[in-house]
Amino acid sequence: MTSSYLSDTMEQTAGGPGDPCVMVIFGAGGDLTRRKLIPALYNLATDNLLSREFAVVGLAREPMSTEQFRDKFREDIKQFATGALSDDLTEWFIRRLYYLSGEFGDANSYIKLRETLQQADKEHGTRGNYFYYLATAPVFFGPIAQQLGTANLLSEEDKQWRRVVVEKPFGRDLESASTLNSQLLQVMNESQIYRIDHYLGKETVQNIMAFRFANGIFEPVWNRRYIDHVQITVGETVGVENRGGYYDQSGTLRDMVPNHIFQLISLTAMEPPISFQADAVRDEQAKILRAIQPLTSEDVLSRAVRGQYGESHGQGQAMPGYRSESSVAPDSATETFVAMKVQIDNWRWADVPFYLRTGKRLPQRHTEIAIQFRRAPFVLFRDTAVERLTPNVLVLNIQPEEGISLSFGAKMPGPVMRLGNVDMRFAYSDYFGGGAATGYERLLHDCMIGDATLFQRADMVEAGWSVVTPILDVWKALRPRNFPNYPAGTWGPKEADELLGRDGRKWRVNSQEPIKAKLLADVAGA
Ligand code: BG6
Repeated sequence: MTSSYLSDTMEQTAGGPGDPCVMVIFGAGGDLTRRKLIPALYNLATDNLLSREFAVVGLAREPMSTEQFRDKFREDIKQFATGALSDDLTEWFIRRLYYLSGEFGDANSYIKLRETLQQADKEHGTRGNYFYYLATAPVFFGPIAQQLGTANLLSEEDKQWRRVVVEKPFGRDLESASTLNSQLLQVMNESQIYRIDHYLGKETVQNIMAFRFANGIFEPVWNRRYIDHVQITVGETVGVENRGGYYDQSGTLRDMVPNHIFQLISLTAMEPPISFQADAVRDEQAKILRAIQPLTSEDVLSRAVRGQYGESHGQGQAMPGYRSESSVAPDSATETFVAMKVQIDNWRWADVPFYLRTGKRLPQRHTEIAIQFRRAPFVLFRDTAVERLTPNVLVLNIQPEEGISLSFGAKMPGPVMRLGNVDMRFAYSDYFGGGAATGYERLLHDCMIGDATLFQRADMVEAGWSVVTPILDVWKALRPRNFPNYPAGTWGPKEADELLGRDGRKWRVNSQEPIKAKLLADVAGA
């Protein structure tokens, strides 16, 4: 990145350090803490975005002393840091870690917690500002909140703030999500609740709003008049890894759709907010979630596809089927793939389908939002092979490639008019370098400055569950008869292709080849 680029950059927010505070991590013994949270805090400290008046209190069942906890993180940080470590900063950071062992349901844990928080306030000047990060199994979310309330650790007095960050999954259907919302709201206000969705920590996801609303040229065509349809693919190559126990109870629909994918849909489809204030943005997102057409039971059969991977020996590599993964029932009916056609019932998007698909053990780790525009009237090119040209597609590449591309037709050099598909590409790495980060930095920092824009409000979570709950109900009532129905390493069951095929459309990415190679091949073949 050049310095002239830097000086041209507009800074919307001040970007100073977070408030003095203590972060309390419930479930601090887990993977999230060592892989993401601690490295993210360290990155914030490196970038001067963490207050010097800061401390972390880890609370978990496992018996351990604060000294042992510090020793553990001295090692873990070496393994999971995303950038260079400085000895001084590491020691500074480690001295701010405290550990408490206790049961989440035991009132004594909260008495000890209060004492440790007071100690941190004294030793590190954290001024009574606390945020509690619930990185535990979801069954504990409600009980921990209740205990915090009872121990008077949530009341905001004398300009002190108290916040609670809730990890996913937030409920497992509409009813359980509403119950959890009411449990939380019994002991705190909505403004104190930060429901996290780690997709909103991704730069490319945050950029959807910047791209749409900071540029004048896209918004005028961002509607049903010019857009034919939208395809969202969230592909993962991994299977369920060591999470069979959780996954078999959850399935792909719950795991990915009402949260991550609905974030992508709402940011892509929302109206411009009147400001970047948390509620202005979230009001617009919520309107989209509420405008998603509810599916009737018949719709579920025709517009929602489920799949489960079976074993495969493709490309010389043997991959086990889902039912043979550890902690998965041998006759499991849980889906590892979902494809859906979603309609947004509002003025801008009427009759523009949003197709989405996501799954485990797909051929590529690849997440994209592809906006496919309507075809041009090709009268001028009647005698050429233009029917073979694909229409203009604007692709927001979320991961692992990070960038945006726009494909359009161009004349291929030569004496006759032949058209090829070409791409204009922007890659983040060309302009901004490869960002080494965990994806949690911005979210934690926002929590420390009280900006809830990138967190889910109660109504958004419930609106998301309202859409998927009817599907869960139908799928539960009708056991799938054809599982497993796609071999590991392929793009899901044939029904997912048929879903688009019935509308005369095709999935954009559907080959085993790497995405770049496919685009080049289109040019050559046109
Ligand atoms: C999590 C899901 O929320 O998101 C996982 O529980 C999934 O099953 C993961 O693999 C995907 O996140 P990312 O950032 O790798 O796309």
